[in-house]
Amino acid sequence: MAAATYFLLIILLSLSCEASKILVVVTMPSRSHGNLGNGVVRELLKGGHEVTYIRIFEYKNPPPNLRQIDVSSNIDLMPKGIMNIKKIMDKDVAANDHITVKMMMLELATKTIEHQNVKKLLEDPSEHFDLVIVDWMLADVPAGLATVFGCPLVWLSPMEVNSLDISLIDGAPHLAYSTGAFSSNMPPFNFLQRAQELWTRIKARYYELKHFDRMELDAYERLIVPYVEKRGRQAPSFYDVRYNASLILGNSHVSMGQALALPQNYKPIGGYHIDEDVKPLPEDLENIMMSAKNGVIYFSMGSHLKSKDWPEKVKRDLLNMFGQLKHTVLWKFEEDLPNLPKNVHILKWAPQASILSHPKCVLFITHGGLLSTTETIHYGVPIIGIPAFGDQFINVKRAINKGFALEVKLSYTVAADLKAAIEEILHNPKYRQKVKELSFIYHDRIAKPGEELLHWVHHVINTNGAPHLRSPALHIPLYQRLYLDLLGLISVVILLFFILLRVLCKLLCSKKQKDTKVKAVGKKLAKLN
Ligand SMILES: *[C@@H]1O[C@H](CO)[C@@H](O)[C@H](O)[C@H]1NC(C)=O
Repeated sequence: MAAATYFLLIILLSLSCEASKILVVVTMPSRSHGNLGNGVVRELLKGGHEVTYIRIFEYKNPPPNLRQIDVSSNIDLMPKGIMNIKKIMDKDVAANDHITVKMMMLELATKTIEHQNVKKLLEDPSEHFDLVIVDWMLADVPAGLATVFGCPLVWLSPMEVNSLDISLIDGAPHLAYSTGAFSSNMPPFNFLQRAQELWTRIKARYYELKHFDRMELDAYERLIVPYVEKRGRQAPSFYDVRYNASLILGNSHVSMGQALALPQNYKPIGGYHIDEDVKPLPEDLENIMMSAKNGVIYFSMGSHLKSKDWPEKVKRDLLNMFGQLKHTVLWKFEEDLPNLPKNVHILKWAPQASILSHPKCVLFITHGGLLSTTETIHYGVPIIGIPAFGDQFINVKRAINKGFALEVKLSYTVAADLKAAIEEILHNPKYRQKVKELSFIYHDRIAKPGEELLHWVHHVINTNGAPHLRSPALHIPLYQRLYLDLLGLISVVILLFFILLRVLCKLLCSKKQKDTKVKAVGKKLAKLN
């Protein structure tokens, strides 16, 4: 009996030892970032960890080992109207470049750390974490949260592999063959594109050095350093904090992106946001899908573009066009539309995974957000992309490049263009074949993305921040990487050599001249004599 109790105690102890306290931080008020954060939290909870989640959107039905810290007021910081579909059609939207986005992200990051609810957490000396996981969106100052709690840091990169996130843990991938985070060029680049990529990167670097580095440093000194000192430690330099991540968990996979060489501490686990147990469809929807004789087309422009902003004429054109198809159309739209054709169904809320995984689903018409394109590969459904903003353009381009997608521009003729694209993609089997191939590649991994996530999180915690995975390239400055110092030295040596040669030459020549002059004078003298 005593032995049994003892045994039980050992098991309980070992279990409680394995459970770690983990802080997950998402500052960006966007559903996709929320979904990625939720995916991480879901896997951590499955692993039995005690999770604190700084988040915008609520994690529904939380178990007792999840504590949520609400920073949903960040939603008010987003500029209004950039996600307006009519404005996008009229090309009346603000620039979507690195610099504008970075300003916005820095503000979101600092406002999150300053938030009343977060402050409470940081001020409390009894709070302690074994790991901090931050959704990285251009701002580096949240790295300081790991410094406050004196624990390892893991970045969550929401994008495909790009020079910006890789630069946090390694040398940036070569720009002659890798895409920038905000570029819409697809490798292989032609000469002009290569020049463009170089120019974009120089410009971004210039702004980093001139403005953003200062702003990040200020934010670090103002928002992080006092908490570190309050806990009785000396705050390290911001450089040492920002380049001290143990890992990047990337929302990417070779089935969707490029086969770039990656540092050991970048883990491409794209797809972890997808819950493996797909919920069954509600009964009415299941009936609609099952009775679709020619398959189902699912149309959703995501959660940002509001249906009320669609121009009336475009809505009617789309309905008419869908009405002429033999297929059943599920249109995710937040408002009722009058005079619906029989084969068109409006869904105010759409269980996307359950629809895409349904065998009757033959096509997904999407804005091309990275999570949506990931889901299409996960479930093997070809797409027509109608990109609207952000990385959607490059995601759709990538999908076209891979061979399972077509693109339609978001314009006033979207209905007619869409009709042509639908005919092509449903009548030519190559798109479906291709997406099935990619789906196989996507699923053919050693472990499911969620399991891999948990594995690497444990690895970082159990090895005190996994220093052995870090790339030696991280701290090598550009001039050393390009051997500019050696080049400089060789240039100086060659230059010195030529200068020396010239000096010697001058000396010799003038001596010769003197000699000949002396000889000539000697001859003249001899003649005179
Ligand atoms: C960097 O990370 C390691 C491992 O997590 C940690 O031990 C170290 O204190 C960190 N260094 C700084 C300067 O924050």
